[in-house]
Amino acid sequence: MTVAIEMGLTTAGAAAAMDLEELLATRLLVQGNSGSGKSHLLRRLLEQSAPWVQQAIIDPEGDFVTLAERFGHLVIDAEDHTERGLQVAGERARLHRVSTVLNLEGLDAENQMRRAAAFLGGMFDVERDHWYPMLVVVDEAQLFAPAVAGEVSDEARKLSLGAMTNLMCRGRKRGLAGIIATQRLAKLAKNVAAEASNFLMGRTFLDIDMARAADLLGMERRQAEAFRDLERGQFMALGPALSRRPLRLNIGSTETSPRNSTPRLMPLPEATLEDARAVILAAPPPDASRPQRRPAPDLLEQLRAAKAAAPEISPEAVEVAVSAEELAERRERVDRTLRAVLAAPDAGFRAIGVLYQEFVVRCRIEGLGAAVPDLSEFRRMLTHARAGVGTDIAEDDAWQEVTLRASILPDDMQGVFMMIARAAKEGWPCPGDAAIARAYGSHSLRRAQRLLGYMEEQGLIVVQLDGGGRRFITLVELAWATAPGDPNGDDQPAEQIASAASA
Ligand SMILES: Nc1ncnc2c1ncn2[C@@H]1O[C@H](COP(=O)(O)OP(=O)(O)OP(=O)(O)O)[C@@H](O)[C@H]1O
Ligand SMILES: [Mg+2]
Repeated sequence: MTVAIEMGLTTAGAAAAMDLEELLATRLLVQGNSGSGKSHLLRRLLEQSAPWVQQAIIDPEGDFVTLAERFGHLVIDAEDHTERGLQVAGERARLHRVSTVLNLEGLDAENQMRRAAAFLGGMFDVERDHWYPMLVVVDEAQLFAPAVAGEVSDEARKLSLGAMTNLMCRGRKRGLAGIIATQRLAKLAKNVAAEASNFLMGRTFLDIDMARAADLLGMERRQAEAFRDLERGQFMALGPALSRRPLRLNIGSTETSPRNSTPRLMPLPEATLEDARAVILAAPPPDASRPQRRPAPDLLEQLRAAKAAAPEISPEAVEVAVSAEELAERRERVDRTLRAVLAAPDAGFRAIGVLYQEFVVRCRIEGLGAAVPDLSEFRRMLTHARAGVGTDIAEDDAWQEVTLRASILPDDMQGVFMMIARAAKEGWPCPGDAAIARAYGSHSLRRAQRLLGYMEEQGLIVVQLDGGGRRFITLVELAWATAPGDPNGDDQPAEQIASAASA
């Protein structure tokens, strides 16, 4: 008997099937940039094969816990268990042939690696009598098998890399069929990727990933260029379980959705106040090594500023329609006032509330009384201005995409991201650390470097050095790249633009 898992339709409209038995005898690698549809693809594969085969999912974001409701997977919250506990759980899941989702959400990188390794180790070490076939899916596999050492301890890295290597290299004999997905092939340890013989390649922008993919698939680099044009949910399939020749297919729909999608309203649970008190106010657990959140902005100051700024609207000012020219002229005056406020040498380092207050005063002097932007509008303008983005660009379509990407970052980082995006869009040199720090309202160069690291972790940008030690940054989703720039130089794109505009 062969079992065909329907993955979707080929671009020619035929059913695209995956041979489950062949898959169990081989392994699968899924690659595609953020948003290309990898997690969706894994979900489709898991849903379609759930009736046929036991599954384990290593889930860094807790995306797959929703499979439990529909298909009866056991969700294991890794946060609640020790490494030893998870190793035993891995063994038992195999003995009892129970499908599981290992939810690693909420753990830091070090603990994600250690606990995933323990769980995988348990499944791997089980007695020969229990070597039934199962699918082991690892989403964001580069987290567990990184190509280069990161900030975690050597020990955690060794454990995790060892477990992933075992899964991909020696798992088959033990019935474990590894299925791994990654955003960036270049970030995944080579030996782990090299064991896959089935591939589903999604949208890929960076040359370095494309080159790795071409090597793995034994394609010409030129052929791999086609990965750039794939749409969301579209993948190129190749391998014994899929197709003997590269086959383009659209992944079909899924029955469940990621838990992290739009929240829905739900009736509140019925519990007595006493129960609630006991639960909510129980003694706090010992302090876990959670990352500290940055301090909240000075709300009080902002409120005070906003209050001082509340425009005094006289009844006749609630006004008659304003003509388009008048609006444009007003906007120009508001922009000019903002530039004047930002021209002060220390403007980059002053609290937003203080800047706003000054802005409001100047607007009044300009006679802009009722047209003064409110604090949240001011914040948006400030972000754009610090990034060197004028109103004209802000309305451009591609730029809307940048704004959308930026919105996943904390407010105060968005300006920096936009500054980089602007440089990338125009092909300007990559801003130096000093310019980045300034756009962030900081003097610290180390903080500027950490910021870039953070954005890179979020999958927004890729930072690379050229042969001469000059830095260039590529925007992952938009595939724009800055020209190389000296990280220690003092390029100030925002001010370049301002002076270009006023010249
Ligand atoms: N074939 C598809 N049909 C319909 N919607 C899809 C399809 N593929 C992806 N999507 C939707 O596109 C969005 C992004 O997909 P997904 O989360 O799978 O991307 P991803 O490659 O896993 O990204 P990341 O690397 O950031 O996790 C999701 O909202 C998903 O529901
Ligand atoms: Mg994903």
